[in-house]
Amino acid sequence: MNDPVVDATSSTPDGPGPSPSQDAAGHPGALLRVENVSKVYGSGHTAVTALDDATMSVDQGEFVALLGPSGSGKTTLISIIGGLLSASSGSVHIGNVDVTTLGGKERTKFRAERVGFVFQSANLVPFLTARENLLYVATLVKTPKKAASQRADQLLEELGLAGRAKNLPEQLSGGERQRVAIGRALMNDPDLVLVDEPTAALDTALGRQVVQLLRREIKDRGKTGIMVTHDLRMVEYTDRVFEILDGHLTHVESPSALGH
Ligand SMILES: Nc1ncnc2c1ncn2[C@@H]1O[C@H](COP(=O)(O)OP(=O)(O)OP(=O)(O)O)[C@@H](O)[C@H]1O
Ligand SMILES: [Mg+2]
Repeated sequence: MNDPVVDATSSTPDGPGPSPSQDAAGHPGALLRVENVSKVYGSGHTAVTALDDATMSVDQGEFVALLGPSGSGKTTLISIIGGLLSASSGSVHIGNVDVTTLGGKERTKFRAERVGFVFQSANLVPFLTARENLLYVATLVKTPKKAASQRADQLLEELGLAGRAKNLPEQLSGGERQRVAIGRALMNDPDLVLVDEPTAALDTALGRQVVQLLRREIKDRGKTGIMVTHDLRMVEYTDRVFEILDGHLTHVESPSALGH
């Protein structure tokens, strides 16, 4: 008589691999592991479930896209990953640290040292120049001044902003502001770079340039990156795509599987 368990095992072409649950949550060495994370905003009849049992993992060196329509939970998810927002349940590990269990002060320190954010609106400090916006974040982790200066100049150079270093944000174009924001996110040498809609305010050509630059910086520096977008054209610059719909993290696709 056939044993269905043996049959199932022997039909796996590549032999025993990780179990499906391990695969979804990632192997223990993944840089980022999000496990069963839910987020409910508000309570009672106004409660909104923005994230429902999200599980994902990203390896060091990967640059992935988080794709989904407006209101699907993208910003909520990366805000929880980066420790800006508390989850209602579930856990987020970056390396061996569970971000969801850190207290306020520890969380702030962890964020400054290990996570770089690029927000949709760039969010630069308006009264600081491009260069000063980079230097400011270095003070949060007490980088020595000389090292911070060198790093800021190097990043501005790489991002094509050397000639704009002394400009205030209002004296920069939208694309330049986004590039300053990328520089600022990389300034403290984070493990994880979280990017929310970097191309929303840019035309397609400029958007592509910014995302290409972001990819290059992430790859050259061995960082791990997650980019939120609802623009399918931008996913070709990423290694993998996570899709989110109504708070459900649905598909995990390679960019080519989406026809790009
Ligand atoms: N502070 C909040 N209080 C209550 N509801 C919120 C709050 N923030 C977000 N939401 C709701 O949670 C859901 C997910 O919001 P989120 O900002 O994560 O979406 P998003 O995918 O980033 O959308 P977009 O592409 O428009 O930026 C939405 O229904 C939104 O209205
Ligand atoms: Mg958003």
